Amino acid sequence: MKIDGKAWRTIWLEPDGRSIGVIDQIQLPHRFTTRTLRSCDEAADAIRTMVVRGAPLIGVTGAYGLMLALQVDPSDAALAAAFEQLNATRPTAVNLRWALERVRDRVATLPPEQRADAAKAEAGLIADEDVAMCEAIGEHGLRIFQRLAALRPPERQGEPFNVLTHCNAGWLATVDWGTALAPIYKAHRSGMNIHVWVDETRPRNQGASLTAYELGREGVPHTVIVDNAGGHLMQHGQVDAVIVGTDRTTRRGDVCNKIGTYLKALAAHDNGVPFYVALPASTIDWSIDDGVSEIPIEARSAQEVTHIQGLTAAGELTVVQLTPDGSEGFNPAFDVTPARLVTALITERGVAAASEAGLRGLYAEQ
Ligand code: MRU
Repeated sequence: MKIDGKAWRTIWLEPDGRSIGVIDQIQLPHRFTTRTLRSCDEAADAIRTMVVRGAPLIGVTGAYGLMLALQVDPSDAALAAAFEQLNATRPTAVNLRWALERVRDRVATLPPEQRADAAKAEAGLIADEDVAMCEAIGEHGLRIFQRLAALRPPERQGEPFNVLTHCNAGWLATVDWGTALAPIYKAHRSGMNIHVWVDETRPRNQGASLTAYELGREGVPHTVIVDNAGGHLMQHGQVDAVIVGTDRTTRRGDVCNKIGTYLKALAAHDNGVPFYVALPASTIDWSIDDGVSEIPIEARSAQEVTHIQGLTAAGELTVVQLTPDGSEGFNPAFDVTPARLVTALITERGVAAASEAGLRGLYAEQ
């Protein structure tokens, strides 16, 4: 996607061929800056502190993190230690474990002196595949939007097609295109009259800061709403479809995504609004069935609830306290939406029912 006319990915190999460049997402939307990651420790820190975030991007960063570790020490012990260190940074998004396993399995049988280069090549492949998967998700999702828009009554045909999304599942959460936002970009570029309701997504505000930033740069009409507004908008016919990403999808189609997604799915169900989840294959955890009991939910710092970051009138990025001294905060970062509330899963291979049969229909090799 383009920023001020220049095409960017969220992660790249620097010209030295040894270090990794990323967009510093902590500074967005107020400052666009990049960072260079030169060691496994720096890659792990970037994931933990959310310099990079979003399930697919976390996976690619982890893959490059293994490359950075192997450049220093290509031994079996160092490979195992780097795997553990990176895998422990964020527990919920399964793409991280998936990408780490893929790189580890690719290099483990090679002589140590070949491992760093092989890890680099594998991480690059994972990144390129992510871009291709997200673009394909965009095409499949676009067709759904077009069909839903055409089904609206004649008196609503001239109105924008209103999509609600939660968190950031755009190109900043992947390598390019995004998952849930890819169909929106495709729709906008195709000339469709589309408008996006952007949930602010407390406490880290990925919607207000990242989704709004992305959509603005691409010229997609959008409006930021507080997380609690979605149900009201659905009751009043102002949402034609909800589309979100996912950090882990179980084999029966339960969907784990940013905290608050479940409440949007309940409201959509109650109001007959279709609720779609967009995901690449790397987000499916075939080893588990019941998302509510089996997916580890990351508990992040209470300070993300009690404090908030913003820009002062003087242009300084600053953090201020929201809550009274002494009030405790609790910050589960994700929740699980049961498959029964999901209208369909939109993958790079096509659209599936949120069920084991639906997913296996697309991924027969699993
Ligand atoms: O905590 P984050 O910002 O990493 O959470 C991101 C999300 O929940 C996204 O919706 C998700 O990764 C799926 S789409 C790329």
